[in-house]
Amino acid sequence: MSKEWFRHDRFGMFVHWGLYALPARHEWVKNRERMTDAQYDRYFERFDPDLYDPREWAKSARRAGMRYVVLTTKHHDGFCLWDSALTEYKVTNTPYGRDLLQPFVEACRAEGLRVGFYHSLIDWHHPSFPIDAVHPQRDDEEAKAQAAGRDIAEYRKYLHGQVRELLTDFGQIDYLFFDFSYAGRPDMWGGKGAEDWGSEELLAMVRELQPDILVNDRTGLPGDFVTPEQYQPAGPMEGPDGPIAWEACQTLNGSWGYDRDNFDYKSPDLLVRMLIDGVAKDGNLLLNVGPTGRGLIDPIAEATLAAIGDWVHLHERSIRGAGASQYVAPPDCRYTQNGDRLYLHLFSWPFKHVHLPDLAGRVRYAQLLSDASEIHLIEPDPSRIAEHTQPGGQPPGTLTLQLPVRRPEVAVPVIELFLDPTASGENS
Ligand code: GLC
Repeated sequence: MSKEWFRHDRFGMFVHWGLYALPARHEWVKNRERMTDAQYDRYFERFDPDLYDPREWAKSARRAGMRYVVLTTKHHDGFCLWDSALTEYKVTNTPYGRDLLQPFVEACRAEGLRVGFYHSLIDWHHPSFPIDAVHPQRDDEEAKAQAAGRDIAEYRKYLHGQVRELLTDFGQIDYLFFDFSYAGRPDMWGGKGAEDWGSEELLAMVRELQPDILVNDRTGLPGDFVTPEQYQPAGPMEGPDGPIAWEACQTLNGSWGYDRDNFDYKSPDLLVRMLIDGVAKDGNLLLNVGPTGRGLIDPIAEATLAAIGDWVHLHERSIRGAGASQYVAPPDCRYTQNGDRLYLHLFSWPFKHVHLPDLAGRVRYAQLLSDASEIHLIEPDPSRIAEHTQPGGQPPGTLTLQLPVRRPEVAVPVIELFLDPTASGENS
């Protein structure tokens, strides 16, 4: 199926990039600091990412083990990264003066990566976007009085028109992340949602223009996948009709846009565990970078991506094409499965033995994935009790693996279990 790539690939790069790279203190800076358009214009007047080279981004993504990239075409601040015919608030009118999107799309394709667009439904610049409780001018009585007559229908037309441009002018687009709806929220003066965006017509147009595209769930209507943000779900996710594709979007340091003074970075080891944890629950990871105002991915982010890539290089088989297993992993471990291969990820390295419930008699061979070195299987002996130098006392059905004392030098060690095909379960 045309959409199968998403579940197969499992790992993508999110890129939040726009004017907010210049203040370099979170992509919501206009909102948080309640800036007016005029105040925020100082970034528009100076946006000039002279070192922008999307081929470098695409290479970093590929080396990290990612297989798709999703770029913010427009974030909530309304600034457009392409030469839209429907606004003057776009990159071609900044000192940089050129479209950023076409080179990005070409660079992704050249690296064999799928192309995704993030597009904000919210727009804090458009003159017809009503000032609500999440608008930067929410406390500005004069601005609110002036904006009283704003008609969101005008903005809706603009939104649809821009999405049409994005899905017409850049060839095949594989993925679309709309962001976001907040209807029915009394704390947000009623908020905004599917009706305001005209989501039904919007999604119909998207599907007509790009029949193979995957669309997320933030228009206020169901989409092709759901988008847990900055948390790891407790298990496989469910939609109204049962299991649903999902993708956790995660930051490196809690901010999406470049945030110079924020050093709350997740370690590469933690991020690798998050990737594994998602696949073990049948989900994807969309990991964000926020390039600088010069157009570069900062050194900490680059180093993090490289470290993740080192792990993926040796362990790709446990991620790509893999998903949840019916088997229950022992404590501090995660299973992923791909047909008759079961992958045991050890988040902590025990001394000498790991006990696997329900796998006795079901595994033909085991090896460390990083170096293909054999791991011994100890089939259970129910009469055996633990005494002196001999382990035992495991419940019936438990298979025990004998591990080397020294933990392999990788972020997360993985043992590849070759299941007896008759025991490989639903995932085979
Ligand atoms: C949120 C935020 C936003 C970020 C996004 C990523 O909805 O508003 O800044 O782009 O999530 O998922």
